[in-house]
Parts: sequence; C-alpha cells; structure tokens
Amino acid sequence: MKRETREITLVIDGREIAATEGAMLVDAARHGDVEIPVFCYEPKLGQPVGACRMCLVEIEGIPKLQTACSTPVRDGMVVYTQTDQVKEAQNAVVEFLLVNHPLDCPVCDKGGECPLQDISIGWGPGNSRFIEGKRHFEKPLPLSPLVAIDRERCIMCYRCVRFSQEISEDAQLQLLERGDRTYVGTFDERPYIAPFHGNITELCPVGALTSYTYRFRARPWDIEQAGSVCTLCPSQCNVRFTIRDEKVKRVLARDNPEVDDGWLCDRGRYGFEMFGADERITAPMIREGDGFRVASWPEAIERAASGLRTAGSETAALVGDASNEEGYLVQRIIREALGGGDIDSRPGGGADRNLNMRLSDPAISARVADIDTADVVLVLGVDPIHSAPILDLRVRKAVRRSGTLLAIATDRPSALDGGATAVARSHPRHTAAMIEEIRNGTGDGAEIAALLEDAEDIVVIWGERVAREGRAVESLLGLAADLKLSEGERSGLIGVPELANGRGLREVGCLPDAAPGLGETGKGPGRDTGAIREALIADQLKALILFGSDPLRDAPDSSGWEEALTQVGFTVAFSMFGDASTARADVVFPLETFAEKEGTVTHMEGRLQRVRPSAKRPGDVRPGWQILAEISASLGDETGISSAPDALLAVADSVSFYAGLTAEEIGGRGIRWQDRTAAESLPASTGVGVTDGHSEHPKSTPAPDPGGALRLGTFRDLWANEVTELNPALRFLTQQQRLEIAPVDAERLGISQGEEVEVGQNGNSVKARVVLRERQLPGVVFLIEGTLEGNANELVHGPARTVEIRKAEGH
Ligand code: SF4
Ligand code: SF4
Ligand code: FES
Repeated sequence: MKRETREITLVIDGREIAATEGAMLVDAARHGDVEIPVFCYEPKLGQPVGACRMCLVEIEGIPKLQTACSTPVRDGMVVYTQTDQVKEAQNAVVEFLLVNHPLDCPVCDKGGECPLQDISIGWGPGNSRFIEGKRHFEKPLPLSPLVAIDRERCIMCYRCVRFSQEISEDAQLQLLERGDRTYVGTFDERPYIAPFHGNITELCPVGALTSYTYRFRARPWDIEQAGSVCTLCPSQCNVRFTIRDEKVKRVLARDNPEVDDGWLCDRGRYGFEMFGADERITAPMIREGDGFRVASWPEAIERAASGLRTAGSETAALVGDASNEEGYLVQRIIREALGGGDIDSRPGGGADRNLNMRLSDPAISARVADIDTADVVLVLGVDPIHSAPILDLRVRKAVRRSGTLLAIATDRPSALDGGATAVARSHPRHTAAMIEEIRNGTGDGAEIAALLEDAEDIVVIWGERVAREGRAVESLLGLAADLKLSEGERSGLIGVPELANGRGLREVGCLPDAAPGLGETGKGPGRDTGAIREALIADQLKALILFGSDPLRDAPDSSGWEEALTQVGFTVAFSMFGDASTARADVVFPLETFAEKEGTVTHMEGRLQRVRPSAKRPGDVRPGWQILAEISASLGDETGISSAPDALLAVADSVSFYAGLTAEEIGGRGIRWQDRTAAESLPASTGVGVTDGHSEHPKSTPAPDPGGALRLGTFRDLWANEVTELNPALRFLTQQQRLEIAPVDAERLGISQGEEVEVGQNGNSVKARVVLRERQLPGVVFLIEGTLEGNANELVHGPARTVEIRKAEGH
C-alpha cells in the first residue's frame, strides 16, 4: 500500500519531459503538453484496458506500436507520437470506428462536445473508403428510465461497462453477443436501475448514452457551465451546472478527487428539475385564515419580526438545509436579537459541546482521500449508500484497488457487506456496546478487533446519528485512542452528518450548547430538538423558526411534532417547496436552491466549500442571508451584513478556527480548516479523559425479547425524501414503506414477502410491505424514516422501541 514514487525523465517527440515512474505514458505526455488522442482511457475507471487502440505511439526499441494509455513510463524512454507509422495507425482507427458510426452529429446530443468528432477531425484520414451500408440497431432504446441508448453510435470503449462492473459494482451492464454484433446491454433487457448509473452518460465518449432529462434540451453553443456544490447530502459533491436561459438543464461532475472522485449519485445528477417545480415557493407569504396570501417583503419581514419580538427569548429554531452563513444568522437571531438559546440542527439530538470539541480535534480527523490508502476501513453505524452515497464508491475503490480490508459494524445490513472482511451486526441503539466489544475484542466485535490490531492506517467512517445514543461517542473516542488514530498521518475518524451541511451548522453555532466556533454560549445549554418539541407542547416556548427544516417528516416522534406545531403560537418557516411543517407556519419565506445560493458549506472532512449562484432565482426569491439580516435588524440587532461576502466575513470572524477565511482562499476546490493555522484556535475540550474499554455495557446483540416482541430500527433511505418526489425523472424511485424482517421472524408471524402489514406501537401504527432480509438479525425489524406515507418517525418516541406486527386488514 505504501508506494515509493520516483521522478524520471523521458523524451516525447524530441522534448524532455519529467514524469513519475509508473505513470501512464498518455498522462505523462499530457503534462508535457503533448496530446495523445484517447477513447477508452479514463483513469477514474482504474487500470486501463487498451481497448480502442486510438492512443498508439512509437517507442524506441519496441518494433510494434504501443498503446500510450496502458504503457507505464520508464526513465530514458524515447517516444514518438507524430511519425508516419503513428499517423497511419490513427487514421486507420478513426476510419474503422466510423465504419458503422451513423454520423448523425446534427441531431446527436453529443454533437459539439464529442471526442469522436474532435478526434475524427484532428487525427482521422478526412475521408472514408467505405461505401457499404452501415450496421443498424433500433434506436434509441431506454437502457433505464433515465438513460437512453443509441447502439449505432457505440464505439465499444467499455467505459460504461467498466463503471458498472468495477466502480459501482452493480454488475448490471454487460457486453452482449460477440464480434461485430457486440452491444452494450443488461441481462434480459432489464432496466439498469442503480444509484450511480447516471455517471455512464458522462463517461460515454460519444452520443450512445444520453440522459432523458437533457436530450434535445440544449446545444453546446447555447449553454454556459457554472461550478457549485451539490447540497443534497453530506457528500457535497462538486458539480458543474449546464445553464441555458438562466436555468439549470444538466448536472455534471466537477472532478475534485479530494471530495467526490469525479462521480455523482443519481439524486444529485437528476435532482435539478425540482428547481422549477410548481411546488416551489417564490414569494414571501403570510397566513390568512386556513391558507396563505402573498405578501410584500417589508410586510413579511415586519410580521415575522413582530411575532418573534413578542415571544422574545421563548423562541426556538431548527436549522436544516442551510449554508454556514444562514446557520450563523439564525443562531444570531435566537441568541443575540431575542436573548434565547434553544437552537439545534440535529433532528434527533446528539453529542454535547465537549464531545464535539474532542471529535473536531484535527489529530483524529481523517480526510476522505485517506480512505484510498487505508489498511483497514471500519464503517460504523452508517450505510454510506443511503447517507452519503459517494463514500460507498470510495470504500469500494479502496477495497478493489488498494487491498484495503473492510470492517462493517452496523445494525442494518449494509450495501458494503459483500466486500467486507468482517461484519458485525448489533441491535438498533446498541452501537456503544458494539464499539466496546470491538475495543475489548469480545463478542461480535472480536473479528473486527483482530483486523484492527495490526493495521497501521485506519479510517473509521461513522454515522453521526449514533450520537443519538448516549454513550456511543465516548466509546468512539475511546476506540480512537485505543487505535492511536492521532498518531497516524493517514488515520482518523470521518463523521457522516445527518444533514448535508451538518458539520458546518454545528461549527457556526446551530447547537443548543455551543456558540459559533464551538464556543461557550455564556448562559448554559439551550434545548435540543427533542426538548424543543416537548417545551412547545408544554407551552414553555412561544415561537419557532424553521429554517429548511421539516420536523414533521424528518425528526423522531411525528405525532409529538404535530402537537408541538399545533400548539406553538407563532412560526416562521423558510422553505423551498412548502413541506408539511411549513403548511402550519404563520409567515413563510422562500429559500434559494443550491444553484441560486451564494455561500459556504463545510464538508464532513472539515473542507469549506463554496456554493455559487449559477441560475436565476425564480419569482421574488431573495438570498437567505439577506432575509435573516433584515429580520435581525428589525429586532434591533444590526448585523452590518449587506452582501454574501459580508456574511462570510461575519462567519469567519465568529468561528475562531475559520479566522481569516475568504471566498478566494476557499476557491473551486475548497480548503480544510484543519490545514490552516487558525485551526490552532479550536477551543480545548475540558478534562474528560478517555474511557477505558469496559464491559458493563449491555451486549450489542441482547437476548430476544421474552414476549417475542420485535425491536424497531429506523434508517434514512436514499430515495425517501422530497428530492425523489419533486423531480419527475426520479419519481419512479419513490419509496413505499417496507418492513425489513429476518425470514425466521416472518415465518413465526406467518407473514410473507410483499404482504401488507401494520406495524404498531403504543396506539400508533404504520402500514408497510414485508421485505425478507437474510442478513438481518432475528428479533429486529427496520422501517424507513421520512416516507410520505407510513413514516417510521411516527413510531420513534421514548425509549421503548418494540413493535407489534399484524396483517393489514383485508389480508
Ligand atoms: Fe463506450 Fe458509450 Fe459504447 Fe458504453 S455505450 S461502450 S461508454 S461508446
Ligand atoms: Fe449530491 Fe450527495 Fe449525490 Fe453527491 S452523493 S451528487 S452530494 S446527493
Ligand atoms: Fe488507449 Fe483506448 S485510449 S487503447
């Protein structure tokens, strides 16, 4: 895993070029400003396959031409890319590729941005000797509900197939048939449905694979490209928007190997059509009777300020989809303008300030890129495919290319289990016990403990929702100490937040017990999300600010939230699409999308990234920082913020470890705050030592409930959210509630796959379809949080989490 790199020199077309030994010749040439044409070569896909022969070059001492994409450079190598022999080969390859290519460039979506066009002109013979009829396929056909395939245009470069086989490892795409009949397809023509499959349209060097969402929508000469960051999940992938008429028409990856490795998931790639959805709120609104009326900005701001002024310090805030600047301003309204302290950005609560300071210690923080070279990756209490999809690909890559050993410790079977060397399964809310078993090398944690024992570079990817469990974070910090993660240059923790900008919001002060920069609040801790709910019900809080937050859908105890939102005297909601919680508000302000917003977010590895405005805001939408600054001023706290750069300045001034940060410094690639000198001003955590491994924890897999009751676990599904519902292209992925259950339990209850059941607890119940899962622990069932119907959050309240299951009526 630890490779020595050596700088060497070689000569290409008479010019001396420096390169790293072992780099592929085509890359070395590019760095030396020599272009060698390629089709099949794509380093993101791993080892080259040398399939298309477009990159043939002459190498001194080797009689035959060689493929530059699969030839590693050596010291003293002498290469020619322009000789007659090379040109003849290049002409021949282009001529061969065009034998059957339909040349329908004028109507092809790739026209104008197509390597085949460019290479045919630049390296081709200029005419063809072939006058025979071309091979024809039916076209275009749906390869999936989102991707069309035009087989006539395919040049058999294997890129799409390699992505499916070796990157996402869904293995759905294959080359079928042989010889000149070969074509790309799926087994039995089944639709290619997998969470990352949209990447193949970007990989395809011709117009054989196109997105239904972009076909015939624009041409390269009438679009602009604009860089931003996807804020639909904590992966915060870097994106490039294709903009036409000031609207987003396509989302492409903007390669940032530190963050996303150049891939996007389908939620990010196809989730842009909602920007113009009918549901979009495009003007401020004020409650009138049972509905809302559109209001002018001054009226809405005054109405919001007056309601909040009346409630004063008895106002709470929940912050969800927000930039650092917006989060900072919301907490400032709560703390400074209103004198309160009840604010949270975690739907189910989490670690306290002191633990957060310890977790933020740069010495135990890993970079996402550290996954690539780790000896062992431990995935703890999270399934990346659902919570931060792009990490799933990163972990697969480490296992496949670096021989990284993978250990999984989760309650629910994870998508990564198949590639794992050790898998330990705990009961829901028993992560702390599982961590202690790993620390002690006992019980179900023994196998993982053995893997970790001799490893040097260890990355622990953990889901921050396990912090909902009292002792889990302490145990995790104990594990980090046992493993000496602070000593390894490429070892550490990566916490996957529950929200896309969960880390940023925490750092700018959207926590009940921490001011910006994880500083002290000066007046003790405020209430967290659950306590806010209870205080609203008990009438101890009089007003609520919901900023990009829909607790009715996303927070535990939906019925409790229903009661809290009915009870509260005054609610100001900031929302993009008007969710169920917003519908109960008194004043509603529209929010910008991440294609319209200007601000910063903080990636899970501590990287500040810029969200940049690319598309026009619809209707009367205004920047979030502006609305918040105006409300603040109305309440008597003049922030002095009158632009997005001012807002960033205020954040950088308040968060000690962001000190001096500017948009220029963050740039297009982002910057980790741990890598700047200001990181030294992270407040020191107080006195708590690291717990010794101890065994008084309950077992991670406790004995079955004596009454045979099943224990409920819940999880967020990649597709169970409004992004799926609001984007026409993604709607087919909308998740119905499903009860995941071990076959032995299903048999005992007499229920079978696909059957509809009612899952009940304390008088509440939700309907779900039975899904049998072999790898699930007996005695445990899982439901999805956040489905439109039958939301599992209905059943999540209080410590009791056993459920009863009965066949739905009529079955
Ligand atoms: Fe290559 Fe595109 Fe054909 Fe796939 S469909 S093999 S990416 S040309
Ligand atoms: Fe967006 Fe997350 Fe998908 Fe990346 S993984 S494209 S950040 S939704
Ligand atoms: Fe080298 Fe295809 S690019 S063989």
